[in-house]
Amino acid sequence: MVSVLFVCLGNICRSPLAEGLFKMHVNEQGLKDFFTIDSAGTAAYHLGELADKRTREMAIIQDSLSLTHKARQFAAKDFLSFDYIVTMDKTNYQNVIMLKPLHATAKVVMMRHYDSNDKTAEIIPDPYYGTTKDFEEVHLLLKDCTKNLLQSIVTERGIAP
Ligand code: 4NP
Repeated sequence: MVSVLFVCLGNICRSPLAEGLFKMHVNEQGLKDFFTIDSAGTAAYHLGELADKRTREMAIIQDSLSLTHKARQFAAKDFLSFDYIVTMDKTNYQNVIMLKPLHATAKVVMMRHYDSNDKTAEIIPDPYYGTTKDFEEVHLLLKDCTKNLLQSIVTERGIAP
């Protein structure tokens, strides 16, 4: 079993969407039994809330994807439960690394590293204060990045359905 945790700031826009899209790719490839997938936020602003309405609406429009995750806060113990921790921007990355226990083995990576098209951009932009177009762009970016991340993990771990 491989466990993957997606992390952003509020756990209502980017990371619950990344979680949903990664699960979608996993299901499409018949790999459900190999994965545990979750998301969390470094901040506690929205604990227990569903993903932002704009994120959920775009997920339905683009992929008929229903997001049911409820926001929770990232904690140091996540380092012991997950193999991969995937952060959306540099601040998330730093906030996660700050909580790293001494002997943690989880691999912390940046989501944008898996972008097919732009090898120079480093972050998934936060759409929270943005427009519908920003939510659409983040959706398309995360769809691509999560697909490539899955391929990378499958190769790294030698997973075969
Ligand atoms: P997320 O977006 O980190 O992608 O979930 C945000 C959600 C909420 C806030 C900021 C970013 N906020 O300030 O409440």
